[in-house]
Amino acid sequence: MDLQPIKPVRPVAPWQGGKRALAKRISERIEAIPHTRYVEPFVGMGGVFFRRRRRPQMEVINDINSDVVTLFRILQRHYQQFLDVLKWQVCSRAEFERLAQVDPETLTDLERAARFLYLQRAAFGGKVAKQTFGIDFQQGARFDLTKIVPMLEDVHERLCGVVIERLPFAACITRYDSRPGTLFYLDPPYWGCTDDYGIGLFSEADFVALRDLLEQLQGRFILSLNDTPEVRRLFAGFDIEEVSLHYGVGGGQRPARELIITARSSP
Ligand SMILES: C[S@@+](CC[C@H](N)C(=O)[O-])C[C@H]1O[C@@H](n2cnc3c(N)ncnc32)[C@H](O)[C@@H]1O
Repeated sequence: MDLQPIKPVRPVAPWQGGKRALAKRISERIEAIPHTRYVEPFVGMGGVFFRRRRRPQMEVINDINSDVVTLFRILQRHYQQFLDVLKWQVCSRAEFERLAQVDPETLTDLERAARFLYLQRAAFGGKVAKQTFGIDFQQGARFDLTKIVPMLEDVHERLCGVVIERLPFAACITRYDSRPGTLFYLDPPYWGCTDDYGIGLFSEADFVALRDLLEQLQGRFILSLNDTPEVRRLFAGFDIEEVSLHYGVGGGQRPARELIITARSSP
């Protein structure tokens, strides 16, 4: 079950609930668990996936958001063409507002991926729904191709050989839990924030379904969630570790607590 060293890379855009502050601690736990397959059913922009330092032979990333999945597929398979589409993109509030009005269903996959990347990088706080144009007083334009292209290149290389899925989380878990040796890292929407990624994508009933799936899992798992009484009650049958961290949006920093949930270790 050898894990191969890989170069950690930066996610190409911020993402609400992205695991920047927790990534190092979660990656250490991932590396401590022997595994031959690694699966992330809620990958978002890959705040943990891309920051890992070692990989097994098979890796699967999954998200229900079609813009996320289209961007990763384009970066994996049509990287050069994507750079051509991005070449003329400028960073302005007017362009942000124009693109926000466009229906992504009317675009080609390349145009769709470019639109998504632009909006996601320029949006305040990495918000996914109800985005507004964000200003970064420290770093200037958020869509600067001289900075973005090297990041895109790294992600293109890192995605080589990775399986990219767009399945509801339960179907993803069931499909890849066919035998022991699989490690799942699960980062679902936070309790109390289930509509942050779109209305109806995830619900309180889905937390129960997730808990039931994890109870039956053949592989191993690491689940991260916000610290609420409901989460503690629902996952009481597992090991629960508290982690303190700070979240920052727009320059502010506020303390928070998250939970890292794993299968109960045998006595
Ligand atoms: C907390 S975010 C993951 C953030 C990610 N770890 C990162 O660092 O960017 C939760 C993700 O779950 C996805 N999601 C929501 N409902 C889902 C569902 N039913 N099945 C699969 N993915 C879902 C969202 O699109 C979102 O990207």
